[in-house]
Amino acid sequence: MKVLVALILLVQLPVHKAVPAAPPPPPLGCDDPESEAAAELAVNYINDHSHHGYKFALNRIENVRVLPQGPNNQILFLELDLLETKCHILSPVPLENCTVRSFEEHAVEGDCDVKLQKLDGKLSVLASKCHSHADSAEDVIRVCPDCPLLENLNNSEVLTGAAAALNEHNSKTADAYLKLLEIGRARIQFHPVRLVFVEFAVAATNCSAEESKANVDACQLLPEDESNFGFCTATIATEPTTDVQVDCKLYGHQPGVSYPHPGQDTSAGLLPNVQGFTNHNLRLSHNNPVASESSSSEFPTSVIAAKSVAKRAVAEAAQHDKVVRPVGFAPPPPPCPGRIHYFKI
Ligand SMILES: *[C@@H]1O[C@H](CO)[C@@H](O)[C@H](O)[C@H]1NC(C)=O
Ligand SMILES: *[C@@H]1O[C@H](CO)[C@@H](O)[C@H](O)[C@H]1NC(C)=O
Ligand SMILES: *[C@@H]1O[C@H](CO)[C@@H](O)[C@H](O)[C@H]1NC(C)=O
Repeated sequence: MKVLVALILLVQLPVHKAVPAAPPPPPLGCDDPESEAAAELAVNYINDHSHHGYKFALNRIENVRVLPQGPNNQILFLELDLLETKCHILSPVPLENCTVRSFEEHAVEGDCDVKLQKLDGKLSVLASKCHSHADSAEDVIRVCPDCPLLENLNNSEVLTGAAAALNEHNSKTADAYLKLLEIGRARIQFHPVRLVFVEFAVAATNCSAEESKANVDACQLLPEDESNFGFCTATIATEPTTDVQVDCKLYGHQPGVSYPHPGQDTSAGLLPNVQGFTNHNLRLSHNNPVASESSSSEFPTSVIAAKSVAKRAVAEAAQHDKVVRPVGFAPPPPPCPGRIHYFKI
């Protein structure tokens, strides 16, 4: 390892020496505006390439590493903690207007590694890799013993509840007959009454609810150039009495927005009845095909480790150029991880 690091330093240092006009950049802190700007771009990229579940918002920049490539050319590696919002991925509401799901609602966290390039001052995402997981039940119960917890999306009570809710909506509406796309999340409360809370994405068909009564099988999802997606939240009481409250909203046609149907997509596009998990995994691994760098976009840990050593060497070199600090100078706060935007899981 030491030999490798020495080798990398040997290879890199002459490159810096060869560019006397540009001093090495100071190390980036996780809360530096440049890191925040990179993270914002990264989060938008991640949401743009996600097809299931909800949009995610930045909770914390865990780490940032800069790898100088040459004059006006840097590679940035970001480690991000994200939190699930209440906006479905098909929702046209911009991320900044999406409410982050509260801790008590059983939060879902996303962990992402993102590789970006800053070329002549312009940032672009080269690749991203994420996964997401729900907070542990113990964590939620400790803070809120009575809070309903996330259920598996294929739980039979959840599936029956979602079907009953959609049925209730379709039986009342004068508008389009809606079909279920996916269940987004579901929780069950057991006491004092049994309640199923379920949220699901829907799409309009070419039938009105009235026309669907004649032959529901003839009702097809609208073609892509007319597609109209929407979202429903529902509460279903089953015991002691049955009661269904449902609220559905259609977003209207959004050009360019599509929903991958089963078979078309392998990331998480399973039928609702085979989803044995509590949240849609942000199991995204995406290389930007239009990135300017021919993207060798893996995140090899050895290279990352070597890089932080190289970065430290650069930082130390930068320190030498600065005015000597007086003894007793308060040390700056640790540059990473950055501040928590919402809450810690
Ligand atoms: C988003 O929030 C801003 C500021 O609160 C508001 O002006 C804007 O209308 C909102 N946009 C949407 C689509 O809700
Ligand atoms: C919906 O589309 C299907 C397939 O194209 C067609 O058979 C059906 O008649 C259409 N229904 C209505 C109400 O237009
Ligand atoms: C939910 O899915 C998992 C994994 O696919 C499966 O093992 C389980 O039996 C399913 N549960 C129900 C109620 O369908």
